[in-house]
Amino acid sequence: MNDLVSAYLKLDRTDECILHAIFRNMWDFEYVPSHAITRECNLNEEKLEIFLRKLSGLGMIENKYHEYIGASFTFKGLSVFSLKRLVRRNVVSMLGKILGEGKESVVFNALNDTGDEFAVKFHRVGYPSFKKVREKRDYGTLHYTVLTVRSARREFQALRRLYGYASVPRPIAWEGNAVVTELVDARELYRIRLENPEDVLEMIVDEIRKMFSRGIVHGDLSQFNILAAEDGIWIIDFPQYVEADAEGAEKILLRDVRNVLEYFRKAYGVKKDLNEVAEYIRGKA
Ligand SMILES: Nc1ncnc2c1ncn2[C@@H]1O[C@H](COP(=O)(O)OP(=O)(O)OP(=O)(O)O)[C@@H](O)[C@H]1O
Ligand SMILES: [Mg+2]
Repeated sequence: MNDLVSAYLKLDRTDECILHAIFRNMWDFEYVPSHAITRECNLNEEKLEIFLRKLSGLGMIENKYHEYIGASFTFKGLSVFSLKRLVRRNVVSMLGKILGEGKESVVFNALNDTGDEFAVKFHRVGYPSFKKVREKRDYGTLHYTVLTVRSARREFQALRRLYGYASVPRPIAWEGNAVVTELVDARELYRIRLENPEDVLEMIVDEIRKMFSRGIVHGDLSQFNILAAEDGIWIIDFPQYVEADAEGAEKILLRDVRNVLEYFRKAYGVKKDLNEVAEYIRGKA
């Protein structure tokens, strides 16, 4: 991913048009057929093949030559494409260092023209072993690039619903697999030693309650997805959230709460009753 910016700088207008055509058609094709691209970018087949080889050499797409010629985004290609759109919209103008790299995302800090800092999260659901994802029942035969864009959109939508009600980073923009938010100056709970664990646990439980009252259950809550600093806590990482009234949400809420309570019990010896806390979150206590 470090060469994301250098790949970005090597793109000309035709490359951009090709990436755009792949993006527009990837909902219908795992490998977007060359004729869909030539049509949109005013190229003949031979010319297109040269460009496809260049983009594949940059690690941005994967080409298929069997049966028909077609192209598909790699994680890097989808991320560069999303970054292009963010730059074009003047949301960001520079990528900085990596803030976090997980199985399902890479998070960078970024600047805009006036020097404001943001966090840009590039989603990568199912990458690189996307075949496994495609076998999962709910997903049908959807390509991982589509799942990845959906994951980013879902996260952005959750943040939009929650911001102003619960303590989450302010959502700024969504493009492709990228979600831009306010940069929070805080660290994951598991990295720090709290002086007032009881108070912080209470704050977290209150945030879970506020999210619940907005109809959202996080679904992956733990010491890894809660950021803390002197001046507060923030809940992050929402692609897997579920609606509070959905079937199975109850169990997921209990799992979230259990994760948090277990962490505070093990790390600080703070004990709270799971059911009492859950009742409080549901507004029944
Ligand atoms: N708004 C933000 N401000 C500051 N740092 C952030 C922000 N968002 C994310 N980070 C950093 O990036 C890390 C990863 O972010 P996040 O938890 O959203 O993704 P992830 O864990 O990789 O995603 P997944 O669980 O889907 O693999 C965080 O632990 C945190 O260090
Ligand atoms: Mg996380």
